[in-house]
Amino acid sequence: MSTTKLICKTNPNQTRFRVLLTSDMHCTDLYGREWYGLTNQQRMQHWVDTVLKEHQADPFDAILIPGDISLDYHDKKTPYDKGYSTGLEFIKDYLSQLPPIPRFILAGNHEQFTHEDWLALTGNHRQGAVIIGNNTFIMLDSFACDLSHSYDSSDKYSPMDVDYIQKMIMAYPQNDVYLVSHYIDLNLDTKAFCHLLQNEPKIKGIFAGHTHLNRVMKLGEDYRNLVIAETGNFSYTLEKDLTKGFWGFRDLVITPDTAVSHYIVAESNAIIDGQLRSFARTVVDTTVHK
Ligand SMILES: [Fe+2]
Repeated sequence: MSTTKLICKTNPNQTRFRVLLTSDMHCTDLYGREWYGLTNQQRMQHWVDTVLKEHQADPFDAILIPGDISLDYHDKKTPYDKGYSTGLEFIKDYLSQLPPIPRFILAGNHEQFTHEDWLALTGNHRQGAVIIGNNTFIMLDSFACDLSHSYDSSDKYSPMDVDYIQKMIMAYPQNDVYLVSHYIDLNLDTKAFCHLLQNEPKIKGIFAGHTHLNRVMKLGEDYRNLVIAETGNFSYTLEKDLTKGFWGFRDLVITPDTAVSHYIVAESNAIIDGQLRSFARTVVDTTVHK
């Protein structure tokens, strides 16, 4: 499988890095429906404006998107095969408004693009790595095992590519490593991947989208107390307790001593169950490692 390696130009004296992790925006005007009282255009612009505000306050060094920018492979009403891609709309109309810092877009389970089509759409392969200072973000494809145009392959999880992870660790042996994927499920994954997480001290944290939640799962001592931090959504929330989050995304702030991820709930007005709800910007901190 071809991969893309991005090496971010950073200041050689830079010791603090801030990375944006934002997933599940699901740019779509499917069925012309509004989500929570916003048209697709309004919701996508709200995502842009929220990211820009964060960037102006504390700039990001890179933008990592763990999948589902669209619903291009959702059902037969949205076939990319028919030449219509809201993933392309997302990139051209919205992502383009963000500053030109390095970015990597993973394919989600609603994005069964072939390797060639994904590269043409996003500028990166379905799998790759982003190097930021002494940190390697390994961008893993969790829905690569069946790229037949089935419109929705949400049940076809493909295990993490252990060989590629090991290759990237060996390529940058001094670096701390973070794994990023659309979905990571240890129950569906291989023993080899679990063994790697348990035994490879360079792996410092894991990020995943897909669930539309901002949960942090602590894997416990067997897994060196690694955490999987989920990256929320900017589309349909699956959070039952809206005091814990609504639309939002994560950052990861890396300093020489520690790495902390903040889940940032976007300041938003939304109509939920017929009622106008207002969300203030709130931030929930998670120490990824220290
Ligand atoms: Fe999603």
